[in-house]
This record gives sequence, C-alpha cells and structure tokens, in this order.
Amino acid sequence: MRIGVLTGGGDCPGLNAVIHAAVKKGITHYGDEFVGFLEGWRGVLDNATVPLTLEKVDGILHLGGTILRTSRTNVRKIEGGIEKCVQTLKANKLDALIAIGGDDTQSVTNALIQAGVPGVGVPKTIDNDLNGTDVCFGFDTAVMIATEAIDRLHTTAESHNRVIVCEVMGRDAGWIALTAGVAGGAHVVLVPEKPIDLDHVCAILRHNHDHGKKYGIVVVAEGAKLPDSGAQATRGSKVDSFGHPILKGIADHLAEEIEKLTGYETRSVTLGHTQRGGTPTAYDRMLATRYGLAAIDLVHQGRFGRLVVLHGTKIEDIPIADAISKNRTVDDSFLSIIQSLEPKL
Ligand code: F6P
Repeated sequence: MRIGVLTGGGDCPGLNAVIHAAVKKGITHYGDEFVGFLEGWRGVLDNATVPLTLEKVDGILHLGGTILRTSRTNVRKIEGGIEKCVQTLKANKLDALIAIGGDDTQSVTNALIQAGVPGVGVPKTIDNDLNGTDVCFGFDTAVMIATEAIDRLHTTAESHNRVIVCEVMGRDAGWIALTAGVAGGAHVVLVPEKPIDLDHVCAILRHNHDHGKKYGIVVVAEGAKLPDSGAQATRGSKVDSFGHPILKGIADHLAEEIEKLTGYETRSVTLGHTQRGGTPTAYDRMLATRYGLAAIDLVHQGRFGRLVVLHGTKIEDIPIADAISKNRTVDDSFLSIIQSLEPKL
C-alpha cells in the first residue's frame, strides 16, 4: 500500500518514535511505501511531501520534535480546504493516511474521513486531554521535565525563604499540573478544573510558615482561572486557527497577589515550551512505538476512521469522532489527591 503520514498541532516528544515504528513495520512486514507530508495539514494543502524510507527513519526513535515538522493549520477554516486535501491525497495515489495529532488535528482527519479519505489517527498531546485514551504519548516526558524543574525550585525557594509559583502547560486540563505538582511535592496545586481560592492558598502557605517551612512551591496550570475575574490569563486576544488563545500569565498574577496578601517574597516561573522540547522518556518512546505499530495494522485491516488508544495496558482503538467529542479533564478522584495532601487548617 502507499500510505501518507503527517504530524499536526503542537509538537511533542515521541512523534518521531511513531513515524519510526509505522514506517519500519509497514515497509518490512507489509511491503508498503510511505509519503510524509511536511508541516501537518499545510503539507497536504500544498502537496509538500518527502519520501519516508527505512534510511530516513533510521535513528530517529529517540529524537524530540518531528522530522516532518508541524503546524496548526485548520483545513476546515480554508475555503475548499477539504477538497484540496482530497485531491492531493489522490494525486499521490495514496491508499491510506496516518494522522498523528491531538484533538484539533483529528478533527480535520475526521472531516476528511467523512469526505471519503481512508484515514486512521494516533493520539498526541502533552496535555493528555484527548478523550477515549488513558494516556497520550508526550505527557510522560512533559511531566518529567516539569517535575525536575519543581525539584530544583524547592532548593532555591528554601534558601531564600520565598514562595515560587510555577506555571505549567496543559491548556484547559490540569493533568500536567496535578501529576508534576504531586510528584514534585508542591505545597499548592492549582488546576483549571477547580476555581482558585486565594485565601485558601495563602492559608496553606501561612500554616506551613508557622510550622517551620518558611518557603512554598505553588504549581499552577496555565489554563487555571484567575481568582478575581474567573477568566484565563492570556497573551492578548489573538487566537490560533482552531480558536485557542495563547495562555500565559497566571503565575505572574498569582505571585503578585500572594506577596501582597502574605508579605512573603514571591517569584514566578513559567516552564512553557521546555516541556515540549527534547528527547522523549523511555515510557513515551515505548507508547509511541506501540501506537505506530497499531496504526499500521489498522490500515492493513482496512479499519479506517479509528484512533489507536491505550486502555489500561492494552492498545485498542476507538472511532476518531468519539475522541474529538469532548476534552478529558481531571476528574474528582484525581482532584481529591490534591486535597488529601493539604494540611488541616
Ligand atoms: O496543546 C499543547 C500545548 O503545548 C498547550 O499545553 C499549550 O497551551 C499550547 O500547546 C501552546 O501552543 P503553541 O506552541 O502554539 O504556543
């Protein structure tokens, strides 16, 4: 078969491991040929391609980023975009398309499937917020990077008797904040799923201070809502082609408020894209490899319109339409971990 592959949306550690696995198994076990589209859906619109051979994917498994590069191109917002993509795929004589991406990318895959394109999806996002899968590859690496950063913040905060507010990614979901915050022993963890009670935050910091811990680490998800307005902190009003604003600034805001309310010297740190860069963890390499192998098997079974997912320890598949129907946010059982670790005030 001739198969197209693309990576769309924000990059994430493990993308190359998916490409590596799908292409390697496709060529050696099924005798496939692969066409890589450059820069996500933009490459399909512009017919910008690169042959994906065994030589091309050799040695890429452990590399961060994506050899195909990526973009946030919303084909559905472009007049005639879907038809243009269908034409490109036909012109390349493709029998199938593997789209590696999060909900935005998969919403385009789904539209193309409805237009008759034989496509399958692989779930990617450091935010871990794609519905229908327990884990997206990239999340583990982002959490590891954030946890290491939080570990480092402890020592400098303690040396100076400071509070440090650390902002992590995750968009509207608090998975990175919760997991890295708990793993990194943060004293306060704030997520978009729960309104921020600033008095409660300050009460915890004061309690710790009065009990000998004169410093504090607060981990906040970029998408958590500002306590005064209930809105998310954004960099201006610009949105991307999928309607997402640039989330930024909640840590700065909280640091100012905490210092004002407690009198403790407070600093803020935004981890930003460091969480998306660099090499994937062993867990993400393995998960991405399993996803890539499952995707090429789905193609050969003719099971199009499906997304490979992780349920427990098993790789399964679900309709792409289900995955994009809603976001998977932090639920009460996970939120209760935060409460359970807070001091009794
Ligand atoms: O969706 C992944 C993500 O890293 C979010 O956590 C973050 O809000 C966003 O992408 C940043 O997007 P960009 O790379 O376009 O600034």
